[in-house]
Amino acid sequence: MSKILVTGGAGFIGSHVVDAFVDAGHQVTVVDDLSSGSEDNLNPKAKFYELDIRSAQLADVFEDEKPEIVAHFASQIDVRRSVTDPIFDADVNVRGSLNLLEMCVAANVKKFIFASTGGAIYGSPEKLPADESCTPLPESQYGTSKLCVENYIGLYSRMYKLPATILRFPNVYGPRQSPHGEAGVCSILAGLMLEDKAPTLYGQGTMLRDYVYVGDIARGCMLALKKGTGATINLGSGKAASVKDLYDIIRGITGFSGKPVLKDKRPGEVEKIFITGARAAEVLGWKPEVSLKDGLTKTIEYIRKQHEAKKAEQE
Ligand SMILES: NC(=O)c1ccc[n+]([C@@H]2O[C@H](COP(=O)([O-])OP(=O)(O)OC[C@H]3O[C@@H](n4cnc5c(N)ncnc54)[C@H](O)[C@@H]3O)[C@@H](O)[C@H]2O)c1
Repeated sequence: MSKILVTGGAGFIGSHVVDAFVDAGHQVTVVDDLSSGSEDNLNPKAKFYELDIRSAQLADVFEDEKPEIVAHFASQIDVRRSVTDPIFDADVNVRGSLNLLEMCVAANVKKFIFASTGGAIYGSPEKLPADESCTPLPESQYGTSKLCVENYIGLYSRMYKLPATILRFPNVYGPRQSPHGEAGVCSILAGLMLEDKAPTLYGQGTMLRDYVYVGDIARGCMLALKKGTGATINLGSGKAASVKDLYDIIRGITGFSGKPVLKDKRPGEVEKIFITGARAAEVLGWKPEVSLKDGLTKTIEYIRKQHEAKKAEQE
């Protein structure tokens, strides 16, 4: 059993990771300001602090909880907001992460795990699927702030011997994902199609991504507790699906019979990016197990129940 502090543990991916840590018998503390996360996602067995990662009060949490491991998921995740408000993006992602790293060093934390992005850090690499040897050339402020944090982690590992693993996620999807921002495309499409509303497919539906189910990502984070120190690892599937592919699968599951609206891609969005999980297989013994169809079926089931609960509330 380890004492683990999870930032962003009330959010989509962080809450699934908290569940996995709790189920494995770890003692988990969550720090989240609930800016995009929800108390509904919180594992009842985890201790919760409603707090901004930029706050000086974070030191009190370290003092009281004495975490041995820190898994850092709290972030401004909206690519488009990072383009329109880069100062806010950098403030949360860079200054917030730096505040956390300083405290990890002061508390002599034994392992730091960072949720980075494979989708936004590489830009448009010539070699696809992208592996970790590709030079990161982000095309958005969000990708740049995440890269900056990766660099700080590298520095803190060299300067203070902070043991760290950087995990670069692909497009993660699954239950609890908020239907905001590009990352939530599965939730957005499924939510609209369940309500019989026509979804908009940006990039004319041709943009390519790899979509990995959140349960697989949580398993990767579990493995990183014990393995991968000093490594930067893509948790990718290596497989590309277009937005139109997603639309077709979701249409098949929901029975939607309308037509999508096709629009051009928006600023900061990359045309195609998918990442290989070869290093994750080698270092962590990880590979994604849930197929896109099965993962989307579970996600749609979750959204359907959410819609029903909302309707019952309104009646
Ligand atoms: N969803 C994806 O496909 C994806 C892909 C690549 C990387 N990531 C990374 O994974 C992590 C989790 O993403 P997610 O999709 O679960 O997003 P999310 O928005 O659901 O989770 C982020 C959580 O951080 C919290 N938070 C935001 N700012 C905070 C602050 N200043 N102080 C404390 N808490 C704060 C939010 O309330 C939320 O609960 C992020 O670091 C993100 O960059 C996600």
